[in-house]
This record gives sequence, C-alpha cells and structure tokens, in this order.
Amino acid sequence: MRNFNETTITDAVLERIKDATDPRIKEVSEALVRHLHAFVREIRPTQKEWEYGIDFLTRTGHMCDDKRQEFILLSDTLGVSMLVDAINHPVPEGATETTVLGPFFVQAAPEKDSGADISGPMEGDPMLVTGSVSTVDGQPLAGAIVDVWHSDDDGYYDVQQLDDIGDLAMRARFHTDANGRFHFWSIKPAAYPIPHDGPVGEMLEVQGRHPWRPAHVHFMISAPGFEQLVTHVFVAGDKYLDSDVVFGVKDSLIREFTGHPAGRAPDGRMVERDYFHLNYDFGLKQVASSARAA
Ligand code: BEZ
Ligand code: FE
Repeated sequence: MRNFNETTITDAVLERIKDATDPRIKEVSEALVRHLHAFVREIRPTQKEWEYGIDFLTRTGHMCDDKRQEFILLSDTLGVSMLVDAINHPVPEGATETTVLGPFFVQAAPEKDSGADISGPMEGDPMLVTGSVSTVDGQPLAGAIVDVWHSDDDGYYDVQQLDDIGDLAMRARFHTDANGRFHFWSIKPAAYPIPHDGPVGEMLEVQGRHPWRPAHVHFMISAPGFEQLVTHVFVAGDKYLDSDVVFGVKDSLIREFTGHPAGRAPDGRMVERDYFHLNYDFGLKQVASSARAA
C-alpha cells in the first residue's frame, strides 16, 4: 500500500495495527490514531505550527526529572487528570469525593501521633485539623492511615524550600484511633500558583489563564479492604475556588476554616494566638468484591 493522501492515510494506519496481539493495546492504538488524525484534520496545522507542537512536547519532556513532572502538570491543566479521576472514582452515597494527587506528595512522610504539631519551623496562623474516617455507612475505621500535606502561608510546600528549611514540614502520616478519629496542628495554607516557569506556564499564558490553585489541605487515606482515597479539603471563600487551574474543586470538599480567639482549643490545648479550625469527616468506599477476590 502506498500513495496515501489526506483521506486515505487514517485507514492505512489502522490497517497496519489490526494484528496487535493485545486487544487493549489494539483498542487504545486505534482510538489514538482516529482521534489524532481527526484533530489534525480539524486544525489543519501549518508545517511551522506542527514543529512548534513537537518542540513544546520535547521541552515538556526535558523539564521532567525526579523533582518535576511537567507532563502531569500538562495533564492536570488540560483537565485530563480530573477526567481520568472521574472515570475511575464513582462516588456512592457516604463516600468522600476524590481529586488530583498533585506533585507534592512524599511517600515517606514522618509518622506522628495524633495531636502533633506538624508545622516544623514554619510560621503562620495556627490551624487545628480534626477529622474522622468511616465506612460509607458511618462505621468508624480504626487504624486507617491518614497522610496529610499542605502549603505554607506563602503558598510553598516544604519540598520547594528544603534548602532553606532543612527538613520536611507541614506533612505527616497519622493513624486513626479506636473511634476512627485523628487530629493535628499546623499553619493555615494559602492559595498558590502551580509551577509555571516551564512549557505548561507558557501554555497557560497564551491561553489567557492564571496558574493558581485555591488554598487546600491534601489527604490520602488508606485502610485494608477499602479504596485508597486521594483528596483535598479547600478553604471556603478562597477567590480561586471557581477557577482552579487544575479543575480539582468539588462543593463537597469545601469547608469553613473557622476562626477562634486564643484560649483553650477543642483538643484541650491552650493556644496563645487566634487560630483556625477545620473539621472533616471522611467516608471510604469498600473495594469491590470482584477486586477483593482477584
Ligand atoms: C497540588 O495541589 O499540590 C497540585 C495539584 C496539581 C498540580 C500542581 C499542584
Ligand atoms: Fe496542593
């Protein structure tokens, strides 16, 4: 087969991959070719524009290393991460909604006892976080692992300023108590722009978009027999809730971080400064029985 033209080339490529041995690879490859060719037919790029596209993706790849993942940022800012999340995480009644993981999760966060202050050397408005983990029917889950991480009051994560602060901060791993509860102290996070000094930042700029995420606290919660929950809780009233650059906000994940005067906090601690309190009760979905059996 030869002499392909604008109308015959798509079928020619599909024909070439028809013998792919793995049916899922075949399905994905065929869809990729059909949609990519349809995209090119729709936009009819000039040769220069196509070169720009290849160069953009090349620079995106070059920006990736063990500290920076520009392709995930691209997926996040094009709404693809949240689309994949939506496809994979239908939410039954009582289960907490999911959102993007983001690039600032650290596997080996320090384990802390409930009640710990995880702010390390960071200064800011004190924040008490209380919460519970239960099944969708409200049965408390004891011993669930609760990973938390958040930015400081300038919008930077610990891993973005390790040279200055020396160690991880504003992140920890807790275990829920016999009543499925946990609590900790830290500082209230601020809204922040995602890293925008690379190709994704260039894309946002030419698309007329800002790079900001509304202030939030990340949670990753696991318990045996339950689907791992990856989510955040957003600060009510944040000005970026309706324009999150990665499309991650859901109404059910927005909470008031209520302000309280200095004094005795709900966990019994005496606080010398005014502080904020966030409470969130999480619901975990059981792993489907077919997946449990596998
Ligand atoms: C984050 O919330 O940490 C985040 C999520 C997506 C892209 C960049 C940052
Ligand atoms: Fe974040």
